[in-house]
Amino acid sequence: MELPFAESYKIKMVESIRRSTRQERELWIREARYNLFNLKSDKVFIDLLTDSGTGAMSDKQWSALMIGDESYAGASSFYKMKDAIHDLLGFEYYLPTHQGRAAENVLFSVLIKEGDFVPGNSHFDTTKGHIEYRKAHAVDCTIDEASDTTLDHPFKGNVNIEKLENFLKITPRQNVPFIVLTVTCNTSGGQPVSMQNIREIRGLSKKYNVPLIFDAARFAENAYFIKMREEGYEDKTIREIVLEMFSHADAMTMSAKKDAIVNMGGFIAMRDVEMYRQASTYNIMFEGFITYGGMSGRDMNALAQGLYEGTEFDYLETRIGQVAYLGKRLEEYGIPFQKPSGGHAIFIDASRFLPHLPKEELVAQTLAVELYIEGGIRGVEIGTLLADRDPETRENRYPKLEFLRLAIPRRVYTNNHMDYVAVALGNVWERRNEISKGLRILREAPIMRHFTVELERV
Ligand code: F0G
Repeated sequence: MELPFAESYKIKMVESIRRSTRQERELWIREARYNLFNLKSDKVFIDLLTDSGTGAMSDKQWSALMIGDESYAGASSFYKMKDAIHDLLGFEYYLPTHQGRAAENVLFSVLIKEGDFVPGNSHFDTTKGHIEYRKAHAVDCTIDEASDTTLDHPFKGNVNIEKLENFLKITPRQNVPFIVLTVTCNTSGGQPVSMQNIREIRGLSKKYNVPLIFDAARFAENAYFIKMREEGYEDKTIREIVLEMFSHADAMTMSAKKDAIVNMGGFIAMRDVEMYRQASTYNIMFEGFITYGGMSGRDMNALAQGLYEGTEFDYLETRIGQVAYLGKRLEEYGIPFQKPSGGHAIFIDASRFLPHLPKEELVAQTLAVELYIEGGIRGVEIGTLLADRDPETRENRYPKLEFLRLAIPRRVYTNNHMDYVAVALGNVWERRNEISKGLRILREAPIMRHFTVELERV
């Protein structure tokens, strides 16, 4: 008999989590004003709010912490990270930052001015935030297939090349500081970008003389999908694929809280010394000196080690296999989600789950609350609340897709936890027609309202 799959690690340290009763959860979520961000973490049994900074570090990462060099300038930890970035990603220059959005803040301070346009696949919220904060515009050129959740397309993070070229053709070069490519594309469901697509985007970046920058938080997961799905890459190693991906980029921003499997950290990497010099000034102002940039030495050590572990095939197979396993279990119930399952998360299609609820009643948030009450599981709404109001008209913006995202932390939960999640969501699915009312807003902040919004049942 062929030997079955098994995880590529064993567990050395555990953390207790507590199951609660439905009655307790009904009370807690009401007290939290139906906002899952307001819940204390001990009120959550399985926490799928995010895969960011929530992973389990390895024994090697923990031991690397102990030999961190906390020198203000020139720490050996800085050079460990430099070597890892050079080895694995191929960049000459880098600046540490405390997390991904800080890398965006520093780099965009150099590159973006008022009135600019930044095209790419679907921009992550903080990326878009840092573009719009500078009174510039994010231009989404993702392929249309990405918004049909039933379609099983292998690279739903791809850019529509024609759309991008048409945009570059009609927009003055001086108003397009760079193209940003998010790998994998979080917003479209943790969906990958193919090497073929990267190559074509690079072709346009050269033709129109516009730099190409990767938002690389989940670059290793993207490389895994290329290996598994793209012709010609099946025999290449993850690290070969990663190097080839980045060979097409001029620079990258990284939230290391994802594929470098650390709880906090980030960086900017680039080839151009002039860009590095300019970014250094902002790094010193916003983050810290150029050899620590908001990170302690021990954290840089763990990050360097995490980059190596995050690009191992066995690890990625275990990690992405677990997300796919949850997807398969949900499929058995016929639960609608973004197909195929993503690298870091399953994105439940809430409008197809609760089609009878009007969009004004915050469909994905309602589903998030139901799943919490059912099983103490915390997901996150990627829908109307997140989309905020239009800054000019103050009307609600209703996005094309209303998602409940179940993000899986790295190396944290077992497949028994995934079974538990599947059954809990299956129970909600079976009683979906009884969910006849959604939620409405009591109080909200003018921007980024989803973090602090207060809600009540309609
Ligand atoms: N880019 C992408 C694609 C991301 O998913 C994130 C964060 C960032 C940039 C910003 O990085 O959090 O380190 O400042 N995503 C988290 C999430 C928050 O839950 O998806 P950060």
